Amino acid sequence: MTDPEAVLKEIPLFQSFRVEDQRHVSSLLRTQSLKKGDILFRKGDEGTAFYMIIRGGIKIVRTSRDGKEIILALLSNGDFFGEMALLDGLPRSADAVAIEPTQLYILNRKDFLSFMMHNENVLQSIIASLSLRLRRTDDFLEDACFMNISSRLAKKLVELAETRGYKEGDTAHIELHLTQKQLAGMIGATRESINKALRVLREKGLASVSEDTIRIHDLKRLKRRIR
Ligand code: CMP
Repeated sequence: MTDPEAVLKEIPLFQSFRVEDQRHVSSLLRTQSLKKGDILFRKGDEGTAFYMIIRGGIKIVRTSRDGKEIILALLSNGDFFGEMALLDGLPRSADAVAIEPTQLYILNRKDFLSFMMHNENVLQSIIASLSLRLRRTDDFLEDACFMNISSRLAKKLVELAETRGYKEGDTAHIELHLTQKQLAGMIGATRESINKALRVLREKGLASVSEDTIRIHDLKRLKRRIR
């Protein structure tokens, strides 16, 4: 059995649980470890379980037949995923791939559905997260239609700095191995246009990208480029 207190600390979804429910859910959770690059599941697979990230990172991606990738979401500690196929009974809507060594809690389909139906707070959290994803997709569509590439890139870099970055002096470091192709996929642009926009940011001293880290040197000025 997984330590109920540890579960509670690590997974916000369970924080509203009463003690008995914490104990119960802890006894049902399994754990799984993934290495960087491991594929947990692919779009089209049957949905058999719900996942929560204890530590690490998972990217949710759609991949085209010729290997192009759109990153729909980067998930990290405390986030959950894999609920859609369990809720609608359809296959997995996207691939889930570890972007760093990752530890997960797993709840099988039957237990997940039962918990959700018996716990109003869990139900609310799941609905809120579906709603948030739809809002983000709407934002993405709006930005793709109305904003230029340089604004979209600035917006994505600011978002990554605020959600995944850490500050050292004036510089925000985002430790993520993202190719220019993947970064382009996150904002619906081409690799060539991202390459150009990144060069401008580098020349202006706003941001730089190396193998495994994106560095934002001046977050305030970068924010001003979002128009
Ligand atoms: P499921 O379809 O079971 O498997 C893929 C999972 O990725 C999906 O459930 C969601 O949990 C998650 N997912 C799909 N699309 C998005 C998105 N746009 N943003 C965040 N997470 C997503």
